[in-house]
Amino acid sequence: MHPIQEQVSLAEYTTLRLPVRARYFVRVSSLSALKDALRFSQDKGLQLLVLGEGSNLVIREDFPGLCVKLELSGVKVDPQPGGAVQVTAAAGESWHGFVLYCLEHGLHGLENLALIPGCVGASPVQNVGAYGVEIKDRMLALSALDRQTLQLRSFTLADCEFGYRDSVFKGRLRDRYIIVSVTFLLSANASRVTNYGGLREWLPCSDPSPRELFDAVCAARRAKLPAPAELPNVGSFFKNPVVGESAHQALLKRFPRLVSYPVAGGFKLAAGWLIDQAGWKGKIDGAVAVHRNQALVLVNQGDGTGVDILRLAGRIQADIRQRFDVELEIEPRIY
Ligand code: FAD
Ligand code: EPU
Repeated sequence: MHPIQEQVSLAEYTTLRLPVRARYFVRVSSLSALKDALRFSQDKGLQLLVLGEGSNLVIREDFPGLCVKLELSGVKVDPQPGGAVQVTAAAGESWHGFVLYCLEHGLHGLENLALIPGCVGASPVQNVGAYGVEIKDRMLALSALDRQTLQLRSFTLADCEFGYRDSVFKGRLRDRYIIVSVTFLLSANASRVTNYGGLREWLPCSDPSPRELFDAVCAARRAKLPAPAELPNVGSFFKNPVVGESAHQALLKRFPRLVSYPVAGGFKLAAGWLIDQAGWKGKIDGAVAVHRNQALVLVNQGDGTGVDILRLAGRIQADIRQRFDVELEIEPRIY
């Protein structure tokens, strides 16, 4: 096991570059090291913060417990009869690195999810999604360690209770399991999802190769989303809200250019459009701001804190509630 360090700055471990410290911090690159770390936290009665790349969390203040940076690595490829391939990746693998590895090995199906920051192990936590695909569409199963009993448990797709930016690991079983590996079902001839509105304009043709699809997704993302290394952020700060039929009709009457589309249970509204219409795009609030190209992204311009980001988020939520009678739910996990 790597040594357990004390009073470690989490700025370089969070894509918002948050100026907070962890009381204890350890990198783990094996299952046994992970168990040792959990025993350490149990013995000392410490809270635990499991960290991938820190691209979907906000930490308000110094963390008084043990921060475990997952560095479990490895990819296993297991061809199945009939042409499908099961691919298992360890939790600490870079998500984009894994998507690229699959592309380069003819294992298709993950191209739409290229360039999403973070680690493989975090991808099921909020069922990461982009450009018409969510990981629930490609995942088969995962293996997770019970934080209390230190036993491994297998989760099927159904066990994960996936929803839009949601899973059992964000809800009912939050803080109970650490995902150690995820298995995907890919194939050499996976059908390609190319009909997502914001993607079509980036595709060279209507029937792109997997590489062309991957490149188009990367280009679309680079044009819209700030790279955290240049401008610290956590991607979309709010989920796109879903409203019922009558609320949707009422909004359309007042705002004929409202961006929305039908989903199960109602209509999904583009939160970025609402925030943009309310005049927040590019607004600076001390050291933090609303991104100038994408109103759904809040950025840290320098020495902003988690508290600054959440204060700005709260102001936006209150304004959107007042103007549109719509509730915006924060997407990243708050500590
Ligand atoms: P972290 O931020 O380290 O952790 C997030 C949460 O998951 C924490 O609560 C953490 O404790 C928990 N966690 C992490 N690893 C594990 C594990 N192995 N087991 C159990 N719990 C764990 N998301 C999308 O869905 N679609 C997008 O298109 C998208 N675009 C983004 C663009 C940018 C520029 C950025 C900065 C973020 C974007 N995100 C997007 C959000 C983010 O990339 C994903 O949520 C990603 O999966 C987070 O991975 P991570 O390793 O950084 O997780
Ligand atoms: N829009 C505006 N102004 C803005 C931003 C957006 O008018 O400032 C409008 C756009 O013109 C478009 C609509 O809102 O008509 C949707 O915008 P976009 O295509 O950029 O997507 P999004 O809804 O903002 C979602 C996900 C992203 C994901 C993309 C692509 C959520 C919360 N966000 O963004 O995921 O990459 O679609 O599929 O669902 C993330 O979760 O962190 C994330 C980046």
